[in-house]
Parts: sequence; C-alpha cells; structure tokens
Amino acid sequence: MRLQSFPVSSVLLPLLLLPLLGLCSGTSFPSNINIGGLFPTGSHEYEVFRFALAQHQDVPKLVPQVDMVDTGSSFAMTYAFCSQFSKGVYAIMGLYDRRTVNMLMSFCGSLHVCFVTPSFPVHTNNQFVLQLRPQLQEPLMALLERFEWTRFVYMYSSNSGLSVLQRILDTAAEHSWQVTSVNLDTLTEAGFIKLLADLDYKKDFQIIIDCELERLNSILNLRRNLKNYHYVLANLGFMDLNLTEFQKLGPNVTGFQLVNRSDPAVEKINQDWLDFDSKDLKLYTGALTYDGVSVMATAFQNLRRQRIDISRRGNAGECLANPPAPWGQGIDIQRALQQVRLEGLTGWVQFDERGHRTNYTLTVMELSHSGPRKIGFWNERRGYVNTNIYRPVVEEFHGLQNRTYVVTTILEAPYMMLKKNHEQLEGNDRYEGYCAELASEIAKHVGFVYRLELVGDGKYGARDAETKMWNGMVGELVYGKADVAVAPLTITLVREQVIDFTKPFMSLGISIMIKKPTKSKPGVFSFLDPLAYEIWMCIVFAYIGVSVVLFLVSRFSPYEWKEKEAPEHSNDFGIFNSLWFSLGAFMQQGCDISPRSLSGRIVGGVWWFFTLIIISSYTANLAAFLTVERMVSPIESAEDLAKQTEIAYGTLEGGSTKEFFRRSKIAVFEKMWSYMRSADPTVFVKNTNEGVIRVRKSKGKYAYLLESSMNEYIEQRKPCDTMKVGGNLDSKGYGVATPKGSPLRIPVNLAVLKLNEQAVLDKLKNKWWYDKGECGHKDSGRKDKTSALSLSNVAGVFYILIGGLGLAMLVALVEFCYKSRIESRRMKLIDAAMMSTRASGLGGENGRVVAHDFPKAGAQGLPCMGKAAGLGLSSTGM
Ligand SMILES: *[C@@H]1O[C@H](CO)[C@@H](O)[C@H](O)[C@H]1NC(C)=O
Ligand SMILES: *[C@@H]1O[C@H](CO)[C@@H](O)[C@H](O)[C@H]1NC(C)=O
Ligand SMILES: *[C@@H]1O[C@H](CO)[C@@H](O)[C@H](O)[C@H]1NC(C)=O
Ligand SMILES: *[C@@H]1O[C@H](CO)[C@@H](O)[C@H](O)[C@H]1NC(C)=O
Ligand SMILES: *[C@@H]1O[C@H](CO)[C@@H](O)[C@H](O)[C@H]1NC(C)=O
Repeated sequence: MRLQSFPVSSVLLPLLLLPLLGLCSGTSFPSNINIGGLFPTGSHEYEVFRFALAQHQDVPKLVPQVDMVDTGSSFAMTYAFCSQFSKGVYAIMGLYDRRTVNMLMSFCGSLHVCFVTPSFPVHTNNQFVLQLRPQLQEPLMALLERFEWTRFVYMYSSNSGLSVLQRILDTAAEHSWQVTSVNLDTLTEAGFIKLLADLDYKKDFQIIIDCELERLNSILNLRRNLKNYHYVLANLGFMDLNLTEFQKLGPNVTGFQLVNRSDPAVEKINQDWLDFDSKDLKLYTGALTYDGVSVMATAFQNLRRQRIDISRRGNAGECLANPPAPWGQGIDIQRALQQVRLEGLTGWVQFDERGHRTNYTLTVMELSHSGPRKIGFWNERRGYVNTNIYRPVVEEFHGLQNRTYVVTTILEAPYMMLKKNHEQLEGNDRYEGYCAELASEIAKHVGFVYRLELVGDGKYGARDAETKMWNGMVGELVYGKADVAVAPLTITLVREQVIDFTKPFMSLGISIMIKKPTKSKPGVFSFLDPLAYEIWMCIVFAYIGVSVVLFLVSRFSPYEWKEKEAPEHSNDFGIFNSLWFSLGAFMQQGCDISPRSLSGRIVGGVWWFFTLIIISSYTANLAAFLTVERMVSPIESAEDLAKQTEIAYGTLEGGSTKEFFRRSKIAVFEKMWSYMRSADPTVFVKNTNEGVIRVRKSKGKYAYLLESSMNEYIEQRKPCDTMKVGGNLDSKGYGVATPKGSPLRIPVNLAVLKLNEQAVLDKLKNKWWYDKGECGHKDSGRKDKTSALSLSNVAGVFYILIGGLGLAMLVALVEFCYKSRIESRRMKLIDAAMMSTRASGLGGENGRVVAHDFPKAGAQGLPCMGKAAGLGLSSTGM
C-alpha cells in the first residue's frame, strides 16, 4: 500500500493528478486527521483539548470533531461515539465515567478505534483504550508500607476507587490490617460530618481519601480540629488543592503530585494557556489532556513518516453492524499511539502493551507549616524513595518573628564575657564581647528575639565515646535545648554531621606563641652596627686601594714632582703620605699636603665624595639605631622551631591542635610531633591559661602552639610579654551553628555573609582585639625594626670611587706622556744646541742637568716615553 504507483501516474496524468489525489486518498497520507472528542459540557478538559490542538499545528493537522455529551449517559455516549466513527475519525479523545466505561471499551475493542483518555484508570486488557492517568495502587501501597499503617479508613468515590479498594482489601487480608472503607458517593454532607465525629470517637486518625479534586477540596475545607489526623490523598494533583485554610489546622497530609510545576517547559505552556483561557492549566487532568493531544500528534507524524496507509474507505463507518466490522487500519494506529514516548507535562509518557502508563515517576508531597513540599518520589523501578532530609525541630512554627530563640554560648574572652557590673544587669545586657555583638547583629538582620544562655556543662561539644551522646553546645542544639549557638565553635566534620554551620565568621589556624624577646643589650662594638660587615670591609679595601692609586699617579704624573725647592727632585706622595692623606680625608680632617696634579686631584675628589656619602649614611643610621629598641626573635616560623632543640614547644593536651600534629603528614610537623611526643618533661598543658603562663615564665625557652585568634588576643593583654610569630600552620573557621533543619539556618547564614561583606566582622574583631587591647597598637615594635645598611644601599658610591681611580690613572698617563714628549723635544733642541755649540766649540753643563730630571731612564714598555721614562721608586718619600 505504499506510494510506488505514484511516479507512474504522475508521468501519465500530470494534470489529472491533483483532483484525483483528493479522491484516491489510498495512495497518499491525509494532511488532515479527524479526531473525535467526547467531553461533558464546559469541562476543563475540553478547553485544554482545543488549546492543545491549536498548539500542535504541524503536519498532519489534527481536526477536532467534538460532541458535548453527558459522560454518565450510555445512550448519549453510544450515539456520539457512533456518529463520530461514521464520520471517519481516526481516534477519539474523551472522558468516561464508571457507567459508560464498559460500553466504551467494548466498542473500541470491537471496532478497533482508539480512545485516548485522561479519565481515571481502569483495570483492563483492552489495548485500544490508552489511559494517560498513571495507576495509583502501587505508589499508595508503598506509602502505607512506609508509614506502617495497620488500621485506617479508606474513603473512595466509586468512579476511581474501586480498583484501588480491591487491591487494599487483598493486601489487608494478607497482613490482617483493619480497614474501614467508606464510599463517599453514598454519603450526604451531614452523613459525612457524622462519620468524622465517629472517627474522632474511635480515634481512627489515619485516613486515605481517594476522589477527584473538587470533592477533595470540599472535604478538606470542612474545618475541624485535625491535629491528630494523618491523611493520605490518593490523587495526583496535590499542588492543585487549595490547602491555604487547611494548612492552618496543622494536620499531617501526604499526597502525590504528577506535574512538575517548576519545570520550565510546563511554565511555558501554562503561560500560553493563560493567554488562551484565564483558568489555571496546572490542574493535572488538563495536563493529561494536553499530553494526550501530544501523543496523538506524535503518533500521526510517525505514521506519516513511515508512509503507512491509514485511509478510511467505503462504509467502514458503520458502527452498529452485526457482526461488528473492525476498522482495518485501526490496529496500525493503535500501535503507533502505544509506541509514542515523549516528555510531556506529566513527565515521561510511555505506554505498556495494555495501554497503561508505565515508567512514570510520582512526586510524594507533604503539607508542612510553610506549604506543600516534596518528601520523596515513587517509580516502578525503585519504589518509594524518601528524599526528605528535613527534620522539623521547631514544632509550632509561626514565622520567625514571634518567639524568643535560645542562643547558647560559652564564656571565653574576648568572645563572650560577663560585664564587670553584671550583677546589676539582666538578660543579654550582662554579656559583652565579640560573640555577644555578633549575636545581636545577626538577630537584627534576621529579625528574631533571642536570649543568651551559657552552655550548662561549659563545653564546646564532643560525642561521648560510650553513651554516644553529644555534650556542650553541640548537645544543646542536637537535643533541642537551644536554637542557635553563637560561640567560637570550630566547624568540623563530625559536628557538621549533626548540626548545621553557617559560613565561618572568623578564620584562624594554629600559630606559635613565644615570649617577647627582651631588648638586646648594646654590645661594646655596637657602633659598628649601622653599617653591614661587608661595607666595613669594603671601606678598608677602598682606603688601601685609594692610597695606592694616589701614590702611583703621583709617581707617574710629572706635575707632582717638585723641581724648585728640593735639592733632589721630590714628591710629597710617597706611600706613607698617600695613606695619611686618605686617612685624614676619611676622618674628615685635613692634612697639609694635597695633590697638585690633575690625576692626583681626581683621586682626592672621588675619595672625598665617597667619604662624604659613607659618613653621612653612617651618621643617619646610627641615630636610628640608638633610638630603637632592637628585638631579636630567635623563632620566626614553625621550621625554626623544628630545627632547634633549645626552645621547648607544645600544645594543649587532648585538643584539636595536638590532633593536628598527630595526623599531619608534612615533614616539618611530623618532626615537631615526634619531638613533642617524646619530650621530657611533658610539653603539653592542661588548658590555654597554663600554656600562656608557661610561655611567660620560661624566659623564652617555651613556645606554645594555639589558635591564632587566641594568640593575637593574649598578645594584646597585659603584661604584654607574648607575641605571635610566623603564619598559621593550618586553616579552619568558627561558625554559627543551628540544629539540622532549623528554619533559622538559611537566614542566619545569609546574615553572617552579609555582615562579612559589610566588614562588620572585621570591625568587631578590631574592636575586641586591638581597640580594647592593653598593649598599644598591634604593629608597634615591628615596623621600626631597623637593619644595618647593606652593601647594596651604598654600592653606587663604591662604583664612583673605582671609576674615579681609573680616570685618575688614565689622566696620570696622559700627563706623563705629554710631559715626556715636551721634554724629549727640549732635549732634542738642547742636543742640537750642544751639537752646534760643540761644533762651534762651546760646551755646556746644561744638557746634563736636564737629562737628570728622570733618574733611571730607559723603561721599554711605554712607546711614548722614549728614553726619558723612569719610575723613581727609590726617591724621597715623606
Ligand atoms: C483558597 O481558599 C481560600 C479560602 O478558602 C481563598 O481565599 C483563596 O483564594 C483560595 N485560593 C485559590 C488559589 O483558589
Ligand atoms: C506525618 O506522619 C508520618 C507517618 O505517620 C510521619 O513520618 C511524618 O513525620 C509526619 N509528618 C509531620 C509533619 O508530622
Ligand atoms: C522539576 O523541574 C525542575 C526544573 O527542571 C527540576 O529542577 C526539579 O528537580 C523537578 N522536580 C521534580 C520533583 O522532579
Ligand atoms: C524510562 O524513562 C526514561 C526517561 O524518564 C527513559 O530514558 C527510559 O528509556 C525509559 N525506560 C524504558 C525501559 O523505556
Ligand atoms: C505574638 O505573640 C503574642 C503573644 O505571645 C500574640 O499576642 C501576638 O498576636 C503574636 N503575633 C503574631 C504576629 O503572631
């Protein structure tokens, strides 16, 4: 029946084809699919049906053929069904009730027409009825098992309830439960009220109600005292119920929800629906109807894609023929519908071979003080799964505002302290400290009234190994004696398992406390301190170097040689005079010789400059050294501690700090731990106070490891003789704690974050640690630690000195060359003169005298010197 003949006919009769197509629909897939509809007048489902068809505009288009009928009347239903069938509908969507369901089924079965319905599910093997509504028996039984009900009342309406009732009665017989069943259809309102009174009297507090939404609403809104009752609603629209009034009566209600209202796809279709109609679509029967149309649209699209012929031909529309003539293509359509799988408004839509929903998930809801909430879900594969981790602690919860919350805390300076005049004060005013203010800030942000109460046993909270009971503040929270704990309570895994912590309000870690080093006594040679050792050494070398260079250039430079006064040619700058000159200049004293040559003056100049800078630097730094008390701390970090054995160190006995070292895998800490464990006498102390006293009394031979916040605090306490050194060894936080599931948890957490972001926490810390500190500001004594001037500070001066010396030697060389050239020229003149004199017979002594200027002529290395070069090292010194 495929379209193989189509190409042939299109070649032969191209013009006749178009009109023929309409008639010979056997060779093509219809573009319009007629869908029948059987709805009661004005029903919500009908509105949704129209809306859904308008939304599904894809090819093939679904065209509705709807009849408004009384679903309870067999005659009207039969008539409408048959008339639609003879009009050639491909499938029918509609509702039935218990009086017409059997008739409908037999028609569908015998005529092979599919009926898609959001009505209550019926137990049947008729595959032509596709039931969109999931069955409730299994989820309900799972819930009863979960609640361990053995005696309860089952109220049902005869439409939907009978099959469930059968199941319940079977199970009840098996487990010998006591079940009272009540058919709501047979009860008047007066009768119902009487029934409730009866239940009250018999203390039958466990009730299952199985009926449609409208009736359920009216039953629930018969306001009565419902305190002790537990209702299970056998209905898929828990969120569709109007429970606003009911909720205030505080009953325990459990039910099922099919449609996920927070799903974005559902939200979107609901929005479109609101533009179409003003009533809410979220009623689950509406969602089922919508999904039914989606299923049909998908099925016909699939059929079209597979090119399956589903045409209706001839008079196959005769409904009441005897024997009934089933529609040949009905089975194809049934298969297509049944095989549809899609994600609809009611979750995953999938049918089994009997046309029942399968592989679906129901959300299990409960009515809490704040409205309906999810407590679990049910599906075929896993049964009932409880996802409820919320354990209400506050029994009667009427918002946060109208109750005095108990805030447990512990006396620990500076977090929580009694005021000096606390006897005259009352309530929260008696306390002061970081946590007292933190609690009041949190209460202000969250908006609750609270009462501070000190923890009974004065402990933070640990689990007793034997009784498994929690003590301290954690215990008070766990056993409901307090609502919040605001205290320096460390966030740890074991505590987090039983209570909830906020984000930390203070971060801290293990740190080292040592005794403040006393002022070191100035040593005999402390005048050397302002300059580093290397500088002193460099100065000595510079001094010697300068003297030598001065000496050399003076030898070289001809201008340094005195010709007139001395009997011999003399030079002031022998080696001893050079040393003396340099020393005099360095000491800022003069001496009565000074260089005359340019090179010698350059040496003198750079040396004076060098001296000026060095002496000024020394003077300036010396002043700083004399005014500052220098403190030398022997320990700067944990590594320093681990390296040495002179200073003992330890922690609190049996605290988390000790535990930290015991567990640590870091080499330094392991080393420290092995020392601490074996130290004799023991380095562990019983409490923080003892540790601090030991630090103070041990003359710097004991370091104590404790939490940084406490360390910083004690540093600011008189007698101000301890200090924190180094960074923190680990990192943890203090948090505000609430019992698990407390309504305060989220608002308190947000408040802590907000206080942190607004820097209120920093302000509080400054206030209680430093502003109220007794030792002056925290950084004094640390910043003005001066250190000796290092070589790099004054290296430039040395460079200038070296440069100057080099320059001087160069200049001396130039001077020397220049002078010797002039001299040699003069010699030549003299020689020439002598030669001419000799030639003319005149002799003279003059030439010999000049030649004597340079006693030992004849050095070879200097090309410009000629024979005049000579270094009179042996000439007169001082
Ligand atoms: C629920 O019922 C209350 C009173 O019975 C009514 O005020 C409220 O509007 C109703 N809410 C809805 C959503 O129908
Ligand atoms: C309702 O009752 C069930 C079992 O009877 C119980 O597990 C659940 O905690 C109760 N819920 C409330 C809010 O009391
Ligand atoms: C409902 O849908 C939202 C959004 O897709 C999802 O986060 C949520 O878990 C769903 N709820 C249930 C009960 O499936
Ligand atoms: C059950 O439903 C899920 C979607 O919720 C689907 O992925 C899965 O294939 C279905 N299982 C079967 C056996 O069809
Ligand atoms: C708060 O409690 C007081 C008495 O405890 C009561 O009179 C008042 O109505 C309550 N306010 C609210 C908003 O519930």
